Amino acid sequence: MKSITSLLLFVPLLSAADQVAVTYHRDIAPIVYQNCTSCHRDGESAPFPLTNYEEVSRKARTIDRVVSDRYMPPWHANTEVTKFLDVRRLEPEQISLISRWIEAGKPEGDPADAPALPTFTPGWQLGEPDLVVKMAAPYEVPAEGPDIYRNFVLPLDLPEDKWVKAIELRPSARSVVHHSLYFLDDSGTARKLDGKDGKPGFNGMSFRQSGALGGYVPGVSPRKLPGDLARPLPKGSDLVLSTHFHPSGKPELEQTTVGIYLTDTPPSRKLEELQIPPGFGRSAGIDIPAGEKNFTIKDSYKLPVDVEAFSVSGHAHYLCETMRMTATHPDGSTQILLDIPDWDLDWQDTYFFAEPVVLRAGTVVEAVISYDNSTDNPENPHNPPVRVKWGRESTDEMGSITLVGVALDAADDQRLNLSNKAQRVKIFAQLGKELSSTGVLERLPSIVKNLDKNGDGSLQESELPQRMRTALLLRLDEDEDKTLNPSEIESLKDWLESMKANREA
Ligand code: HEC
Repeated sequence: MKSITSLLLFVPLLSAADQVAVTYHRDIAPIVYQNCTSCHRDGESAPFPLTNYEEVSRKARTIDRVVSDRYMPPWHANTEVTKFLDVRRLEPEQISLISRWIEAGKPEGDPADAPALPTFTPGWQLGEPDLVVKMAAPYEVPAEGPDIYRNFVLPLDLPEDKWVKAIELRPSARSVVHHSLYFLDDSGTARKLDGKDGKPGFNGMSFRQSGALGGYVPGVSPRKLPGDLARPLPKGSDLVLSTHFHPSGKPELEQTTVGIYLTDTPPSRKLEELQIPPGFGRSAGIDIPAGEKNFTIKDSYKLPVDVEAFSVSGHAHYLCETMRMTATHPDGSTQILLDIPDWDLDWQDTYFFAEPVVLRAGTVVEAVISYDNSTDNPENPHNPPVRVKWGRESTDEMGSITLVGVALDAADDQRLNLSNKAQRVKIFAQLGKELSSTGVLERLPSIVKNLDKNGDGSLQESELPQRMRTALLLRLDEDEDKTLNPSEIESLKDWLESMKANREA
């Protein structure tokens, strides 16, 4: 009986397929143009184009494999529990159409049936930007070695204040750019530092950022902020790209181009980025034992005012497995804002909600992030596994989920902003804990004495540990003589003490 029913079920399908054979032009081209070509075309992130019959049929077998296991199109958020815009996912029918087309011998069909290839602005996903700036010279990323953090100044020379709707970043060597953050500097300090060591850019974060404009991670699709929302870009500011490179095995030259989409009108409400846990997880005390299969961090934030949220994005490295952000409303009901069941470092999208999500004051937003530091995790950069702590190298770990939104009522802007700042104090609490547990502060005099090889009471650049040289000099060398004199060493002590005090406060 059972086999008869399933036979009956298949009859209409089979006959439909027999009557109309699947062809490239009528059936496959629409799927590919709508779901693949935005990345699979010349000059884009994907390694080969998919824009015509020859290109698609040549790759047909691999395409069949990657669409069936949902590796392509790349998309990692669960769309059953949260509705997003610009979802990149094929319907099951589309996947089976591709398989049937290949089984039928990849018939081309009649070109007259084909949809027109969508028109993409060459290069830019959001159309021609209002302002295009490019790194003055390429920066060389070596084949091997540790990750590199480097800042590049792009002078904007804007004569008047503007507001930023979107930024699209086009790296020239996508394979080595792990991420890039956009900062503003209105003091001219970054310009002075740029190129000082003979190479484009500079190391360390020694300039005071006068603003931040978000960032780029691989796989992100740029999108303009909704409504009248925009981030301030005051006149006279320089854009500083803070780029993290991960060497790829061959030397690469990176010369980033940035497209900026502007508006002249200030927004009615101030955008807030609620990062949980703050500091990309710096406050969460990430310390994962070697071999640990299920290490979890958790943090939450109670909204002080009504909030309207637009987008959500996660950040972590190789060991991360899953991420979830849940809102518990004041009435006790819950709503999942982001669920990533299979985290992938290479696809750290910003997910825009299909409709802005309104979260009332008192809603608790919780982030839970899990890691697998065992050999079961094929992404584990260490074999055998090693203990992994929070850190900036991509082989260290991070973990946070950022919810972007505004106070529903513009009158609450400031309250939301202050409470978000207060949330970040947790980072200092963690730093203080780590400092006192390692006893650095207590050991500082003897550490300085050990480093001071010539015994002159100052620390010359050559006496500083290579690892910390740039960071310490940039932060503490006030008179820029490449030496930490006794008063500058004293300010190191103050700095460490202030962090410890922050923890106790
Ligand atoms: C958001 C950009 C993007 C979209 C959309 C996209 N791809 Fe890709 N695709 C990439 C990138 C980048 C790579 C290379 C990196 C990788 O393999 O992960 C890739 C790799 C591939 C590969 C090679 C995989 C392998 O194992 O060698 C195939 C085949 C492929 N894509 C097919 C498709 C098809 C078919 C679609 C549409 C249904 C699609 N892609 C949509 C960006 C994209």
